[in-house]
Amino acid sequence: LVLKAARGGYDGRGVWPVSGRDEAHDVCRRAEERGLALLVEPLIDIRAELAVMVARQADGTAVHWPAVSTWQLDGVCREVLVPAAVPAWVAEEAVRVAGTVADIARAVGALAVELFWAEDRVMVNEIAARPHNSGHWSIEGSVTSQFENHLRAVLDLPLGSTALTAPHTASVNVFGAQDGGSPSAGLPRALSVEGAHVHLYGKEPRPGRKLGHVTVCAGSAQDARQAAWAAARALGTPPVGRDAADSPPRGGR
Ligand SMILES: Nc1ncnc2c1ncn2[C@@H]1O[C@H](COP(=O)(O)OP(=O)(O)OP(=O)(O)O)[C@@H](O)[C@H]1O
Ligand SMILES: [Mg+2]
Repeated sequence: LVLKAARGGYDGRGVWPVSGRDEAHDVCRRAEERGLALLVEPLIDIRAELAVMVARQADGTAVHWPAVSTWQLDGVCREVLVPAAVPAWVAEEAVRVAGTVADIARAVGALAVELFWAEDRVMVNEIAARPHNSGHWSIEGSVTSQFENHLRAVLDLPLGSTALTAPHTASVNVFGAQDGGSPSAGLPRALSVEGAHVHLYGKEPRPGRKLGHVTVCAGSAQDARQAAWAAARALGTPPVGRDAADSPPRGGR
C-alpha cells in the first residue's frame, strides 16, 4: 500500500509506501500522534509517470500542452521530458483524461494532472490547480508558457498557442549540494552548457532542497537531457545514480 497525508504533503513528503502490516502500523501511529488523517492507496506498478497541463477559462475554453514524462526519485520529480516518451495512445489518453478533469473541476487558470501509466491503463495520481513543476519547461519549450496562459485564463483574455518551440525539451530540477553550498557558485559552468536555461528560485540552499531547474530545447531527447543534466550537476545537484543521457525515463520507483 501507499499511505499519504491527507493534507500538506509535497515532493514526496507525506507519501509512505509500506510493504507490510508492521510498517503500516508504524506510519499510522506516527500520523495519529500528529493528528494527521491518511489516505490509503494500492501501490501501483507504474510503467511511466506522465503529466498534462491544461489552461482553462471560465466559459470552458481550454488548451493543453503535450503530455510530458516525469521521472521521480523518492517521490520527488527530478526530470521532465517533452514530449512524453510513451506510446501515442498513452499520451492521447492522458490528454483526454486531463481535459475531463479540468472540466469536472470547472478549473479557471492552469491545472496540472499527474498520471500513472500502469498495465494497460492511464490513471490519475494527483491534481494541482496551479502552474506546476511539470510545466516549467513551457517557459522556453512552448510558444506560450504555463504562467502566461494562467494569467490569460484568469483575466479572460485569449489563450496562447501551446505549440512546441523545439522537437524535444528536457527540464531537470536543481537540488542543494551535499555541502550546503549555493548553486550560484556553479553558474559559470552551468551557463557554458550550450542551450541551458537556468532558473534559480533564490531559496536558502540546503542539501537536497529543490532550488531551481534547467531547461534545454534540442533536436533529440538525448541531447536535451544530456545538456540539462550537465548544467544541473554543475549547479550542485547530487548525482542520482543513473546515466541520464542513456536511459529513457521509466516509471517512478
Ligand atoms: N499509489 C501509488 N503507487 C505507486 N507509487 C506512488 C503512488 N502514489 C504516489 N507514488 C509515487 O510517489 C510520488 C509522489 O506522490 P504524489 O504525487 O501523490 O505526492 P506529492 O508528494 O504530493 O507530490 P507533488 O510534489 O507532486 O505534489 C509519485 O510521483 C509516485 O512516484
Ligand atoms: Mg505528485
